[in-house]
Amino acid sequence: MNIGSPLLRETVSKKAPGLNLHDLVIAVLGSKGGVGSTTLAINLAAALGERITNDAITFVDANLQQPDAALVLACEPQHSVVELFKRADSLEDQIIEACRCRLSCTETLKLVTPPLDGSAASQNNLSELVKIIPSVGSMSNGIVIDLPKNLDRYLVSMLDLASVIVLVLEPNLASIAATKRWLAAFDDLGYARERILLAANRLGGKFKFVEEKLFNSFPGYEIASVPNAYSVSESCAIAGAPIVVKYPKDSYAKAMRLVAARVVDRL
Ligand SMILES: Nc1ncnc2c1ncn2[C@@H]1O[C@H](COP(=O)(O)OP(=O)(O)OP(=O)(O)O)[C@@H](O)[C@H]1O
Ligand SMILES: [Mg+2]
Repeated sequence: MNIGSPLLRETVSKKAPGLNLHDLVIAVLGSKGGVGSTTLAINLAAALGERITNDAITFVDANLQQPDAALVLACEPQHSVVELFKRADSLEDQIIEACRCRLSCTETLKLVTPPLDGSAASQNNLSELVKIIPSVGSMSNGIVIDLPKNLDRYLVSMLDLASVIVLVLEPNLASIAATKRWLAAFDDLGYARERILLAANRLGGKFKFVEEKLFNSFPGYEIASVPNAYSVSESCAIAGAPIVVKYPKDSYAKAMRLVAARVVDRL
């Protein structure tokens, strides 16, 4: 398909004025690998999606080498973010819209993904993503970005764009230590603490003292609680739908709505 095709022009929907999420860019970052940041980012976006009345939140997968979101959302993208990189200097609305992939599980989220073969990692970098985010934002009702976990100048320029940074951790000593390192880096970068929300994932395990340690380790930061949700998260990954959509009454979904409320409160 030609993504500049006039046929697509009819499907382009411009952002409606007056929606409260329209300038929102939320960056979700895992303190370490495997802490549940992609799952949380997807479900946070879905929970925010429940609050909007039209158009859709754009979920941007910034993991150029290991893009997971399309798999977790059962999306087979026809176009990738690389199409946007190539046209960054004169991005037209219909091209952006063609690269915002629709999802069968929900209409309130659209996905912008790197190519699933990981090829963007060797040919592109996050500075190209930084350039196109404002244009994608102008077509969206808020953006949620799932960030990679390596601190470099590209990641910093993505973080600079964010209205709110959600830093995901879990109750284990390595993740708590990693979170301290990220927060020290954010202090060095001059980020206000109000922009940062910690999300403690996989709570409710048997090692209560580690959870206690987690909550005592970050004075001055707000920490949102997210429960362990092993069976629903696996079931949703197989079904290709966010937990918030497939199991709206599950405790994980309820926690995600509270995280969404805390994010919106910061705007
Ligand atoms: N609250 C939770 N309870 C139980 N399992 C969870 C929870 N959150 C995420 N998971 C599961 O943990 C695994 C890793 O999650 P996910 O891919 O979101 O982590 P990640 O931090 O994005 O990993 P990566 O570092 O590879 O990007 C997945 O199988 C997911 O279903
Ligand atoms: Mg991930």
